[in-house]
Amino acid sequence: MCQNHRRAAILGTGAETPEKVVTNLDLEKFLDTSDEWIAERTGIRERRVAADGDATSDLCARASKKALEAAGMEARDLDLIIVGTATPDMLFPSTAAVLQHKLGTGGQMAFDISAACSGFLYSLIIANQFISTGLYNNALVVGAEVLSRVLDWEDRSTCVLFGDGAGAVVLGPTTEAGRGILGSAAATEGSNWHLLNQPAGGSRIPASVESVQGKLHTLKMQGNEVFKIAVRTLLAMAEAALYEADVKASEIDLLIPHQANLRIIEAMGKRLEIPAEKVYVNVHKYGNTSAASIPIALDEAVRSGRVKRGDKLLLDAFGAGTTASAVVAGW
Ligand code: UT7
Repeated sequence: MCQNHRRAAILGTGAETPEKVVTNLDLEKFLDTSDEWIAERTGIRERRVAADGDATSDLCARASKKALEAAGMEARDLDLIIVGTATPDMLFPSTAAVLQHKLGTGGQMAFDISAACSGFLYSLIIANQFISTGLYNNALVVGAEVLSRVLDWEDRSTCVLFGDGAGAVVLGPTTEAGRGILGSAAATEGSNWHLLNQPAGGSRIPASVESVQGKLHTLKMQGNEVFKIAVRTLLAMAEAALYEADVKASEIDLLIPHQANLRIIEAMGKRLEIPAEKVYVNVHKYGNTSAASIPIALDEAVRSGRVKRGDKLLLDAFGAGTTASAVVAGW
C-alpha cells in the first residue's frame, strides 16, 4: 500500500463504562453458575450494566464528548458520524441520528452499522474510505452496546458473557508516513447467521405475546461453534490487514483483539507470535461488550500511556453474522 496518500488518523479517543458493576459472585446468587467456571472458561470477573433509563445513544454521547475533547474538536467540526451497534436505541431511526442530536449538531451524514462485535472496525474502515477519497475530513466512529437489555438473565450460557459500554474515536486526514489506517480487512460469512442472533423484533418474527413468552427477543448463541470459527477467522483477518499495511506481526506494538474470551485472545497472540505483554486484555473487567470492546480497550490503552506516537496497532474483531475485521493503525 502506498504510505503517503491520504487516509484517516485517530486524533482522539473516549469511552463510557457504566458505573454499575455486576461480578461473577453477584451472578452466582441467582444463576446456576460459579465465579470459577466463568473465570476459567472466559477470563471474565465482572461486567458493567447500564443505568435504568440510559440507552445506547446516551453511552455514545458521553464517550463521543470525551473523544472530541481529546481531539480538540467540537461536534460541529464533524462531517460524518457512524455508530456500530447490535443494540440500537430502536430499530429506526439510527442511533447515530439520535447521537448527532445529543451532541448538539446536525446536517452531517450519520448512520449505524450492523456487524455485531465487528461493528466498530467495519465503521472505522468505512469512515477511512470517506476520508481517503477526500469527500470528508473529520469523522466520529463509535462502538456501543447495551446488551444487558437483550440478555436472557436465566440463560447461564449467554448472560454471564456480555456487558454494556461505549467507545469512540475522532478521525481526521493525514498523509504522514506510518500514521493512520495503514491496512484493513473485513469479511462476512452469512451461512453462520444462525449461530448468534436475537431472533425476534424484526420483520422475520415481529413482537407478539408468543415471541415475548418464548424469550425470542433475547440473544441466542451456540458458543462452542462460534469459538471454533473465531480463532481461525481472527487470524485470517489479522494476516490480511498486516499484508495490506506491509507490516509484520513482529512490528506490532500493541494487539487489541475483541474482548470476548481470554482463551481466544491468548490463542490469537500465540498464533501471531505477539508476546503477551503486547496483547491488550480488559475482558476481566467488562466482559464482552461487542462493538464497544475494541474502542473501550483502545481508549484505556491510550489514556494509560500504553500507546505512544509512532506505535503500530493491530485491531482484530469477530462477531455475529459471522463478521470479522482487522485494522492496522499507526499512532
Ligand atoms: O463476541 C461474539 C463472539 N462470541 C464469542 O466469541 C464466544 C465464543 N465462545 C466462547 O467463548 C465459549 O464457547 C463459551 C464461553 C461461550 C462457552 O465455553 P465452552 O468451553 O465452549 O463451554 P460449553 O458451551 O461447551 O459448555 C460446557 C459446559 C456445559 O455443561 P455440560 O453439557 O458439559 O454438562 C454447559 O452447560 O459448561 C456448562 N455451562 C456453564 N456452567 C456454569 C455453560 N455456561 C455455564 C455457566 N456456568 N455460566
